Amino acid sequence: MTRQLVVTVPVVDAELASDALWGLGVVAVEERVDVDGETELWTSLGDEATAADVRLPQPWPWRFVEVDDAVAETWRQFAQPVWVEADLVVCPAWVPFDDPAGVVVLRIEPGATFGMGDHPTTMLSLRALRRLVHTGCTVLDVGCGSGVLAIGACVFGAQGAVGIDIAPAAVPVTTANALANGVASRVGVSTTDLADLDGTYDLVVANILAPALIALSADLLRVLAPGGSLVISGILAEAHAHVLSALAPLR
Ligand SMILES: C[S@@+](CC[C@H](N)C(=O)[O-])C[C@H]1O[C@@H](n2cnc3c(N)ncnc32)[C@H](O)[C@@H]1O
Repeated sequence: MTRQLVVTVPVVDAELASDALWGLGVVAVEERVDVDGETELWTSLGDEATAADVRLPQPWPWRFVEVDDAVAETWRQFAQPVWVEADLVVCPAWVPFDDPAGVVVLRIEPGATFGMGDHPTTMLSLRALRRLVHTGCTVLDVGCGSGVLAIGACVFGAQGAVGIDIAPAAVPVTTANALANGVASRVGVSTTDLADLDGTYDLVVANILAPALIALSADLLRVLAPGGSLVISGILAEAHAHVLSALAPLR
């Protein structure tokens, strides 16, 4: 049996609550919307999880539910390679896939992190990175999760990429994925707070929800090298203006 955590939130809070759960290092979040305007978020903090591990930013009701192991892992059977562009694929590491000629294939095992490459915000970030990376540039991936963006940047030609994440699981997962994709010597990863990070980077990418982007805005600009590029994703359309005003003035 596996211990699942079920958090019940108003539909409008679903994204905020999901982000909080990703920050706790969960492997997946399933949203089940009911007819009364509430969303149940189903996830797992591990079989040993206790109430002390359920650190949520708001007093949303939650409960633990015991479910059959086979049911908890069924999503893996249905995972498929994701075509991000006509010549760029993110493939679940356990899914057999013959690399087509001329196609870049990133192989990702998400473990206990976000970043299978199938989320629209990840796909958009990968497309932007591919256009902005130039040979020899340095990249910072804030909220790296599985490391898919940092690893992609290095495969696209970056000199090196640093990934940081508040979720400790991101460190071993990104390290293993960097190795599997042949860029281990160019990807560094840690749980260092952005506020404590020194130096600047030619390209900074952050695929995190708007409230976190706003909170991090001053440091995102601080670590951006003069003339560098900032790629931000994960923002709901209605929060777009708030994020841009927190980051203003952008050059
Ligand atoms: C949506 S996931 C993005 C994962 C991956 N970069 C991608 O694009 O698929 C957001 C990640 O940001 C992390 N995160 C949230 N707030 C953060 C913060 N203040 N500093 C660093 N990481 C943060 C979460 O733990 C999560 O792994």
